[in-house]
Parts: sequence; C-alpha cells; structure tokens
Amino acid sequence: MPISLPALLRELTPPLLWRGLVGLRSRFAARHEWEYIPEGWDYANVHPEVAGWDVQSVVDVYRAKWPAFADAVQSSRPLDFTHESPDFTGGDLNAHNGVMSFAYVLARARQQHPAISLLDWGGGSGHYYLLAKALYLDIDLDYHCRDLPLLAAYGAELFPAQTFSSDDSSLDRRYDLVMANTSLHYSQDWRAVLGRLAQVASGFLYVGNFPLVTDASSFVFIQRPNAYGYATEYLGWCLNRDEFLAETARLKLTLEREFVYGYAPSIYKAPGAAEYRGFLFRAAQE
Ligand SMILES: C[S@@+](CC[C@H](N)C(=O)[O-])C[C@H]1O[C@@H](n2cnc3c(N)ncnc32)[C@H](O)[C@@H]1O
Repeated sequence: MPISLPALLRELTPPLLWRGLVGLRSRFAARHEWEYIPEGWDYANVHPEVAGWDVQSVVDVYRAKWPAFADAVQSSRPLDFTHESPDFTGGDLNAHNGVMSFAYVLARARQQHPAISLLDWGGGSGHYYLLAKALYLDIDLDYHCRDLPLLAAYGAELFPAQTFSSDDSSLDRRYDLVMANTSLHYSQDWRAVLGRLAQVASGFLYVGNFPLVTDASSFVFIQRPNAYGYATEYLGWCLNRDEFLAETARLKLTLEREFVYGYAPSIYKAPGAAEYRGFLFRAAQE
C-alpha cells in the first residue's frame, strides 16, 4: 500500500521534533483574531506579545497608508472606508456609519459653538481632524489629540498647527466637544478615563463605536491585528451596556443620541454577543 506524504513525514521526523511541530501547529491554529480572555487584564502580564498600541509597526502602517487615506478623504467619494482599510475601494458601511455619526456630532457641537474646541481621545495621528476639515470646509476647529507617544508624535508631524499629546496636559482645560471613538475600551480603568473626559467636556461628550454586550457581564477580549500589519496584540473591554450607562448616569451625563454602526464582530468563546454602539451625551452643567 502506498504511504501518504504526511505519514511519510511522520515516519522520517524524530519524535521530539514531531511533538514540537504538532505543539506549534495547535498553538497557531487556536489564534483567533478576536478571542475572549477569561483571566482578564492579567493576561498581558504573562503574554509579552500583548504589546498594546504604542508600537512602531502601527505607526509604520499609518504612515504608509496616510497619502491614500488623505486623498480619499479629500475627494467627493463616499466616506465608506477607514484608515485601516487594506485598500480604499470602499463599500464599508460600518465605516460610513461611523463617519456620518461623527459628522452629526460635529454639527450638534457647532450649533452651540461656531468655533469649536475638540479633544479627540485615542485619536491616533489625527484622522478625524482631516475628516472634520473635509466634512465642513469652513469649520473653525481647535483640535487636540491625546494618544500614546508614538502615534501622538506622528500626528504632531502631520499637523504641526494642532495639539498632540501623550500625557495628561490635554486634561488641564475644557472643550466644547470631547470624543473617544473606538478608544475608551482599551483602558483597563475605563471608569477613570470616562470620568476625566466627562470633567473636561463643557458641551458634549461622544463615546463612539465601541463594543457592548447586553446578555452578559462586561468581559475582556484580545485582538490580534496581524492582518493589518500591526506586529502586536491588545486587550480591550466589551462593556455591559447597563453597566456603561449606569456609570454615565452617575457622572450626570445626559444621553442625547445613541448610534449603531452595523458592526458586530464574532469574539471566539465570548460569554455574550458584542455589538459596536456609540452615545452622544450632553455634559453635566456646573
Ligand atoms: C482603534 S484605534 C481608533 C483611532 C481613532 N479614534 C478612530 O476612531 O479611528 C484606537 C486608538 O486608541 C489609542 N489608545 C489606546 N490606548 C490608549 C490610551 N491609554 N490613551 C490614549 N489613547 C489610547 C490607540 O493608540 C489608537 O490610536
């Protein structure tokens, strides 16, 4: 009887090496892009591959994509792509919903303050500054972005007239609009961050496009964004919706509008279904 190739390889490979190869294969086969992490944030302490967002490969990808992203944003085509799109061919309705929701939020803020100051928490290298300028050609926008050191430095290089920081200096003043778009859930102590953001919002606070769960308690998940070219992994919260809204009520934020984007990634072994949602709050009046 002819022997199959895998069987032949098995016969020819020394047992110790074979066990190593099988172990490696099962380790990589189990690496889902999105996965529930039952042990929570402690996981990062024993997994050095969880390097977070402040890594050079993220900046390198942002830098490589920037010219195509900027051209697409500044054209008249639909804004149906993100800066993370593999190409900018479009058709991403979740991205379109995200940008149009941001446009609505900006319009609300501008109704109250024709010249607006904006704090963009986790704003990367200022993608939403470029979007704001493209959505409203006449906008009078004083843009402040707080991100981690490498991305903040790249943003300052792209937009030297705007303010980029990676320390708490952005929290020393108040803003007409504070936004945390797809960023709050990357902070282990999300309540502390939300509290600080609420304190510095004098008009509106927009917590946009982040994962929520309704049929389970808040849980931690991992993202392995290697498909985007990021040589890192990061943890994030999928917050229970009631828990999140109880905290915003405690902070005396008034919900003005909820947003849905059409994004519900499947998180391997998660205790509940995640769906990205967003909320525009009016800040507490002093
Ligand atoms: C998915 S990206 C979202 C970028 C942008 N806000 C958007 O909506 O396209 C998450 C951003 O949050 C930033 N981030 C993660 N942890 C942060 C922290 N502790 N403080 C500030 N920014 C953080 C990351 O560096 C990254 O720029």
